[in-house]
Amino acid sequence: MQRLIRSTFPSLGYLQSSKFSSIPAPKSSPEILYTGIFINNEWHKSIGGKIFLSINPSNEQTIAEVQQGGKEDVEVAVAAARDAFKFGSPWRRMDASKRGQLLYKLADLMERDRIYLASLETLDNGKPYYMSYNVDLPMAISNLRYYAGWADKNHGKVIPMDGDYFVYTRHEPVGVCAQIIPWNFPILMAAWKFGPALATGNTIILKPAQQTSLTALYMAQLTKEAGFPAGVVNVVPGFGDTGAALVEHNNVDKVAFTGSTEVGKKIQQGSGLSNLKRTTLELGGKSPNIILSDTDMNHAVETSHFGLFFNMGQCCCAGSRTFIEDKIYDEFVERSAERAKKRTVGNPFDLTTEHGPQIDKTQFNKIITMIETGKKEGAKLVAGGNGYDGLPGYFIQPTVFADVQDEMTIAREEIFGPVQQLIRFKSLDEVIQRANKTDYGLAAAVFSKDIDKINYLVQGLRAGTVWVNTYNVLSAQAPFGGYKMSGLGRENGEYGLQSYTEVKSVITRIPMKIS
Ligand code: NAI
Ligand code: MG
Repeated sequence: MQRLIRSTFPSLGYLQSSKFSSIPAPKSSPEILYTGIFINNEWHKSIGGKIFLSINPSNEQTIAEVQQGGKEDVEVAVAAARDAFKFGSPWRRMDASKRGQLLYKLADLMERDRIYLASLETLDNGKPYYMSYNVDLPMAISNLRYYAGWADKNHGKVIPMDGDYFVYTRHEPVGVCAQIIPWNFPILMAAWKFGPALATGNTIILKPAQQTSLTALYMAQLTKEAGFPAGVVNVVPGFGDTGAALVEHNNVDKVAFTGSTEVGKKIQQGSGLSNLKRTTLELGGKSPNIILSDTDMNHAVETSHFGLFFNMGQCCCAGSRTFIEDKIYDEFVERSAERAKKRTVGNPFDLTTEHGPQIDKTQFNKIITMIETGKKEGAKLVAGGNGYDGLPGYFIQPTVFADVQDEMTIAREEIFGPVQQLIRFKSLDEVIQRANKTDYGLAAAVFSKDIDKINYLVQGLRAGTVWVNTYNVLSAQAPFGGYKMSGLGRENGEYGLQSYTEVKSVITRIPMKIS
C-alpha cells in the first residue's frame, strides 16, 4: 500500500509525508444517519413530500432515500439563514475568535469521524477509499483549520484621507450565502465553501449535488455538534431546480457555485435577473500540461498520468491536453499507455484499487460517446477505450489517445473522465499559442529543468494556476480559480476571504480645535 501511494502520487506533498504510510480499514457499509433537510439545526422532511435516491456508482444499488428540497423548503431555509444573520443575533454578536474556535471544533469532529466520513464518501461517490481517507478528508479538515485561523485576522485599514477626516475600513460579511456544489469532491467542496463563509461571519444554505448528498448532510450535523447557532448552516438537498430557487431568491446576498460552465452562465443570469447577488464561479477546464524534452521522463509520465486520471478524470483542473515536445513524443506515448494499462480498476473499498467508477450513467454515457468521437475523428487509441461489458457499475477503462489534433472534439471539450489526450508540439511560442486557444483557463502545467523556458511558459499561459514539475497540488493556502470561462473569483488562501466580505468605509471628521 505504501508503495502504491507513493508511486501513484509522486507530486502530492501531503501524501508523501510519513503519517500517511498506513491507513485504517474502511467501514464498507457505513450506517447512513442523515437524509433530511437541515434547517435551523433541525432535520426536516421535504414540504412537498418528495424524495430522491442516492445510488452507489460501483454497483448501481440504492443506498439511501434523500428528502428533496423544493421551492417551499428553500423559502424556510432562506428565512432561517436571514434570521440568524440579523443585526444583534447571537452569530452577529459572537467574537470573531469564537467563530474561529467553532471552525476548529468542526475540523476536530471531522477528524474524529474520518474513517466513517471517508467510507461514506466512497460509498456515495465511488472514489477509492484510500483517496477519500488520504486526500479528501485531510484537505477538507485543513481548509477549515486554515480559515478558522483567519476569523479574527481579517482586518480593514486606516487610510489617510485628504481633509480633516480619517477613514477606516471594515470587512463585513456579505450576508446570506447560497453555496451550490458538485459531486466530484463532495465533502471537500462543502469544506471549501463553509470555511471562508463562516470565518467571515456569513450564514449559509448549502445545496449538495443530487448524486452525493450524504457526507454534506453528516457534516451539517457536525456543525450543530460543534456549537454553531441555529440557522447559521443550513443544507437543502435537491436537483438543479433547488439550486435555481436559491439563485433567483431576492433575499439571498451571494451565490458561490462549483460545477459546469453551462450552469455557471445560468447562475450569473439568475443573479442579474433577481437582486444582483454577488457570484463566485468555479467552472470547467481543458487544462494544458506541457512536457519539454529536457524533463525527467519517469516523473513526467507518472505525474501526467496522475494529473489526468486522478479521481477517474473527474477534476475541473484535469490535465486533459498533454502537449509533448516532438523529440520525446513517441517514448512518452508508449510509456503513458503502459502506465494507463497498469492502473488498477475495481472495488473502491479495496485498498489496492487506484480507480473506481464514474459518478453516474449520464457521465458514463457522455464519456463513452467522447471516446467514440475521438476514434471517429482519427485520434489513435493506445490504451483502454471501453466500459466493462456485463459488469454493474459505471467503470471505464483508463483510456489514452495519441496523435490528437487541436481541432478534434476530444481536444476542445471537457470530457471529465479517464481519457488522456497526447498532443505533439515543436516550439515554445507555438505551444503557448495552442495551449491558450481555449475558452477555459483554470490550470496549466510545465515539466522541464530549464528555468528560462519554465519562466517563459509560466508568463505566457493564461490560467489561474500553473504547476511546475508537479500537478494537482492544491492547498488551503494557495488561491484557486479560473481565467476566462473557467470562473469568477478565487477560492482558498487570503484571496478567498474577499468574496465573502463587503468593505465598509467609515469616514470620521477630526475636529481641529476642541473648545
Ligand atoms: P452541473 O453544473 O449541472 O451540477 C453542479 C451543481 O449545480 C449540482 O449541485 C446541481 O444540482 C446544480 N445545478 C444544476 N443546474 C442548476 C441550475 N440551473 N441552477 C442552480 N444549480 C444548478 O454539473 P453536472 O450536470 O453534474 O455535470 C456536467 C458537466 O459539468 C460535467 O461533465 C463536467 O464537465 C462539468 N462539471 C464540472 C465540475 C467542476 O468541478 N468544475 C464539477 C461537476 C461537473
Ligand atoms: Mg447538469
